[in-house]
Amino acid sequence: MGESSFSGQRVLITDASSGIGAGLAERFAREGAIVGICARREDRLREVLDRCRAHSPESRMWVCDLAVADEVDRLAEAAVAEMGGVDVLVNNAGVPKRRDVSLLDPETVDALTTINYLSPVRLTLRLLSHMLERDSGKIVNVSSVAAVLSSPGEAAYDASKAALSVFSEGMAVDLWDTGVNVLTVYPGVVDTELFDIPGNDPLSPEIERISVTELVDGVMDALGRGVIEVYIPEWFKGVAARKANDVELFLAGTAGWVRGQKTVGGADGQA
Ligand SMILES: NC(=O)c1ccc[n+]([C@@H]2O[C@H](COP(=O)([O-])OP(=O)(O)OC[C@H]3O[C@@H](n4cnc5c(N)ncnc54)[C@H](OP(=O)(O)O)[C@@H]3O)[C@@H](O)[C@H]2O)c1
Repeated sequence: MGESSFSGQRVLITDASSGIGAGLAERFAREGAIVGICARREDRLREVLDRCRAHSPESRMWVCDLAVADEVDRLAEAAVAEMGGVDVLVNNAGVPKRRDVSLLDPETVDALTTINYLSPVRLTLRLLSHMLERDSGKIVNVSSVAAVLSSPGEAAYDASKAALSVFSEGMAVDLWDTGVNVLTVYPGVVDTELFDIPGNDPLSPEIERISVTELVDGVMDALGRGVIEVYIPEWFKGVAARKANDVELFLAGTAGWVRGQKTVGGADGQA
């Protein structure tokens, strides 16, 4: 096997104590990258770091809460100081909020927007100048198909991810003629702990989940091809195109589908 294009690259991945972030960290480490990871749960983060270090001993971790702006700034400073720079930034930070809009409060929306949108943008802007100085770098933003499909019961989450996607696309345009590339990732439903986080309605109905490995394979393939966006699984791109083609028809269909679920499953929609 030839040397990976990520060998020796310094890769910073946010929210890597579980799920997609942990999977990406281990894959990059296996490909010879020096991985920097962060999250709040130190014990879980250390387990991921140990697995990364088995392949890439210089990998490191920082315990931080990305809901706090100062901690985002400190993370950027630490990554530059301790890794000597960041070649690939993976903004994987994100929390769910499955709650009907009639039950949402502004504070919940603020908190969600901070983690899902403001924090990745802040971290990106703190690191972008370093990448531009070298005229080299990759920024990977983990959005969601929710950003483009108006998934029911997730208005606040949908909007936070849409904001990240739109920022990501605008950034790709501004950086078009530089050596810094941007990739927006649109995962479908991935089998992670995201669906067990308290304070969220159950996912209803259950949609087929893909594995973290399948998602990671898709991200690495997209990076290899140098594309600016990727839907994983790819069929979601067709669904997004159908919505773009006729928004009213699509939203009416979604509302009818939700109504049907409630009729089948009772008042809360659960079978
Ligand atoms: N799973 C899916 O179906 C799916 C679909 C589309 C998009 N996504 C996106 O994929 C990304 C990863 O999600 P996942 O499915 O892998 O979820 P996950 O397994 O729940 O992982 C979420 C990670 O976020 C960390 N985290 C949460 N709040 C944080 C905070 N304030 N500061 C620092 N770290 C924080 C968690 O670690 P600590 O608790 O240790 O901090 C954990 O490592 C998210 O952006 C999510 O929106 C997921």
